[in-house]
Amino acid sequence: MLQINPNLADLVSDAASSLLARLQSTATITAAAPGRVNLIGEHIDYCDGFVMPFAIDRYIVIAGCANGTSNARIATALGEEIATFDVSRQQQEGEPKWSNYIRGVVRGFQDRGHHIPGFDACILSSVPGGAGLSSSAALECATATFLEGLLDTRLDTKEKALLCQKAEHDFAHVPCGIMDQFASAFGKPNRLVLIDCQSGEPELVPFENPDLTVLIANTMVHHELSDGGYAARRKHTEEGLALLGKSSWRDVTAADVQANWSKLGEPVNRRARHVVGEIARTIDAAAALARNDFEALGPLMAASHDSLRDDFEVSCSELDTMVELARKIGRAGGVIGARMTGGGFGGSTVTLCESRKASEIATTLAAEYKKATGITPQIFASRPSRGAHLVG
Ligand code: GLA
Repeated sequence: MLQINPNLADLVSDAASSLLARLQSTATITAAAPGRVNLIGEHIDYCDGFVMPFAIDRYIVIAGCANGTSNARIATALGEEIATFDVSRQQQEGEPKWSNYIRGVVRGFQDRGHHIPGFDACILSSVPGGAGLSSSAALECATATFLEGLLDTRLDTKEKALLCQKAEHDFAHVPCGIMDQFASAFGKPNRLVLIDCQSGEPELVPFENPDLTVLIANTMVHHELSDGGYAARRKHTEEGLALLGKSSWRDVTAADVQANWSKLGEPVNRRARHVVGEIARTIDAAAALARNDFEALGPLMAASHDSLRDDFEVSCSELDTMVELARKIGRAGGVIGARMTGGGFGGSTVTLCESRKASEIATTLAAEYKKATGITPQIFASRPSRGAHLVG
């Protein structure tokens, strides 16, 4: 039942073949950037919290070349409409919608003073879209890396991640935090990207125990983050902080939230309880990992999910079902912890489990989820992988 992750080398050669077939061009530059999964620390990257994602071994690949004109022509291997836009002009939003992630990143480079020459490119992805695994950050980071190759320049990794985040804000209208772009840009094999979102500094934390496996279960249910639920949650947290009279969530305690419960009012009080609790849980999780105490992650992941479901209200019945099923398998069945991952409103769960039982757990989850919802999920294992890079 465990899906096999497509090999990056195969994606790269398929992207080059598609470029030739669709735009009659030969690839001279190829960039790859991964999606991410978050172990714990949800909806607190925009609250000065800590988050603990890693780059997964699923990539967006862009293969292309300069085309000697002032136009970018971009095809996807899925055969969607070819996006064409004049890169000698300052980029604005346009059609097709998926091209806005690329236009936004081109704009970021233009704002740094770069002149972008015309190019042909073809995009291929093994990051499931709408699955809460940051296919949009992967597309932004792959585009930025491709442009580095095209311009023969290198950005500082943090600057590159921030440029990509700005593209998401301005061209996709999702007021996201920094987690996804940092994970995609900074990811390393066998390392978690522990991010202190107050200082904006990532720390690469070892995560290489072969006895542990991270399973990602895509519920196949998808609600757009740009629908407004994400922005509304972010606004609640800003209102809460203002009502508490603090300048950072890092200075707020659980007791502060309790003492101001009615002043904060519904639902801001529950949103605040989530933020403060999730920051504490993520600090505890990082400490547990530092002492190799993986078992301690189980209860922390469980509490994180419950808080996202009840207080932050970003889960949905399918995510809850998948998590419940993992809980039912339980520690005796090899499950250490499970929770929803990413922005929510659909998407995926993350399950930390014993490697020797991973395949059996995936089979049970898939069968029981199908029985409960009628939907066939997509379940795969992932290890921390290399972040955005030029290939070859
Ligand atoms: C989305 C956003 C991230 C983060 C998560 C929730 O993935 O892009 O910045 O806020 O949701 O943790």
